[in-house]
Amino acid sequence: MNSSQSGAWGYFCAATAAACALLAAALIHSPARAQSAGILNSAPISATGGQQVYEQICQGCHMPDAKGAVGAGNYPALAGDRALASRQFMALTVLLGRRNMPAFSSKHGIGFGGPPTSLSYAQIAAVVNYVRSNFGNHFRDTITPEEVAALDQRKP
Ligand code: HEC
Repeated sequence: MNSSQSGAWGYFCAATAAACALLAAALIHSPARAQSAGILNSAPISATGGQQVYEQICQGCHMPDAKGAVGAGNYPALAGDRALASRQFMALTVLLGRRNMPAFSSKHGIGFGGPPTSLSYAQIAAVVNYVRSNFGNHFRDTITPEEVAALDQRKP
């Protein structure tokens, strides 16, 4: 490679780097804001399975074994949690939040001082069904995305 070639290549990189950075920023920002931004980091949540949603969002506070934690905050156990007998109670908790529990409905989701965080109704149904049938919970009934959506519509 002679010096004139490397000079031209260097110029090409410098000229396109700015355009590439703008394009990358646009690509990263639009889908992340449209549907979901992580509560604990800003990565988009594209998971569809209940287990993946749990691992990406819920376990940061409720812990991987769902036994909760006491320390900087008080995070209740979801393992063997009798309050989960009501699938509506659990879905509403995830949709609307509860005291220090953030809301994940796209209508209500507001992260802690960060960008809005939301999960789709399908993601909420999946994680509700996953938690209610794992971690020592044995509830047999399941919730559908349509039922989650209906619960969300009831609230302003
Ligand atoms: C930022 C921390 C945080 C995250 C993330 C979080 N929670 Fe919570 N969650 C809490 C806190 C704090 C409470 C207790 C709220 C209260 O004071 O009643 C709670 C309560 C709950 C309850 C009610 C439990 C009971 O017995 O009263 C359920 C159900 C629940 N969370 C499910 C979830 C699910 C599912 C996710 C993931 C989509 C999740 N949480 C993500 C902090 C969190």
